[in-house]
Amino acid sequence: MWAELARIGKDPDSGGYHRGGWTPAERAATHWFTDQCASRGLRLEPDGIGNLVAWWDAGSGPGVVTGSHLDSVIDGGAFDGPLGVVSALAAVDRMRAAGFEPRVPIGVGAFVEEEGSRFGMPCLGSRVAVGALPAARALDLTDRSGTTLRSALASAGTDPAGVGVSPLLERMSAFIELHVEQGRGLVDSGAAVGVASSIWPHGRYRFEFTGEANHAGTTLMEDRRDPMLTYATTALAANKQARLAGARATFGRVSVEPNGTNAVPSRVTAWLDARAADSATVESLLEAITRQAGERASRDGTEVVVTAESVSPVVDFQPALRDRLVEALEPVVPKAPVLPTGAGHDAGIFSAAGVPTAMLFVRNPTGVSHSPAEHAEMDDCLAGVEALALALKDLAS
Ligand code: GLV
Ligand code: MN
Ligand code: MN
Repeated sequence: MWAELARIGKDPDSGGYHRGGWTPAERAATHWFTDQCASRGLRLEPDGIGNLVAWWDAGSGPGVVTGSHLDSVIDGGAFDGPLGVVSALAAVDRMRAAGFEPRVPIGVGAFVEEEGSRFGMPCLGSRVAVGALPAARALDLTDRSGTTLRSALASAGTDPAGVGVSPLLERMSAFIELHVEQGRGLVDSGAAVGVASSIWPHGRYRFEFTGEANHAGTTLMEDRRDPMLTYATTALAANKQARLAGARATFGRVSVEPNGTNAVPSRVTAWLDARAADSATVESLLEAITRQAGERASRDGTEVVVTAESVSPVVDFQPALRDRLVEALEPVVPKAPVLPTGAGHDAGIFSAAGVPTAMLFVRNPTGVSHSPAEHAEMDDCLAGVEALALALKDLAS
């Protein structure tokens, strides 16, 4: 399964993946998933926006869902998302091979546009599914070429009128997401698999710096109103403030107008991703960066407007479920480490919506993620499948 999926949408130059929501590569990966579900006789249940859960039925009541996402960041790695989907299918295979008969249904899920790499909203599919993002707002989101989600869905053959709170939510008695670790916590602990304690709060903010386009050769330095300078100073301020606060701040996306070598730009738009262990720190970090941006703007004769595009609070996974999984994992991972993560996940959205939720992490030897270099060793991935099968058995017995 891993080898088949790894071929879909792989960039021959970078070795990374460009599987934004509803792009051809993401759709091909999704077709691969539905074929896998069909070949196992799992009953596929899509919701309005295209989240998929494939059920190993055991009665018609609510069931335990596991899975992750098949979309990627721009030039992402093979593991972030797909590892959780492939491991879920492999865990079902192992449980069936061992003759396990679940007392409640087990569902394998693939949730759309988790990264928000196309429409800018992280966990888009799960947010809509739980009602945290109203359908009307979601459908108006646009990608970089101005295509709305509404029209992307229509082009993919999905009726936008069906987008809204998902019936799948009612059917989830618990959700477990297995994910490649996106740091070095497990390397340091020496374990192949760990259990999540919490997800850091996270905000995405659009900074629009405006100035005045002018000639690069003739405009005196003191006559310029250059928004690039305001942006550059803001990026440095973000780095400094995040270090001071023990937080994370990243400007990873910038767009410049008119984007010409020989013109002072008229506008720079940059997106800040800010995270910390608690929301108060994210807020004070944003305040400090915004203040420094404003101060610099008044020196540069530019303007800056900051807009929050998404803000996610801290997620503390249920301690009882977390401890239960640590115990269930004992035969494969003795004393599984319990660790927080700075990465966002659909599991966080489901947890915040009241679904008992847990996460398993598989060791990442370098900690690198959101990059073609993201990696996990096959033995660790197989330990992850074993651990997931144990967890599912425990919850579905
Ligand atoms: C998703 O992986 C995120 O944390 O941005
Ligand atoms: Mn990711
Ligand atoms: Mn992910």
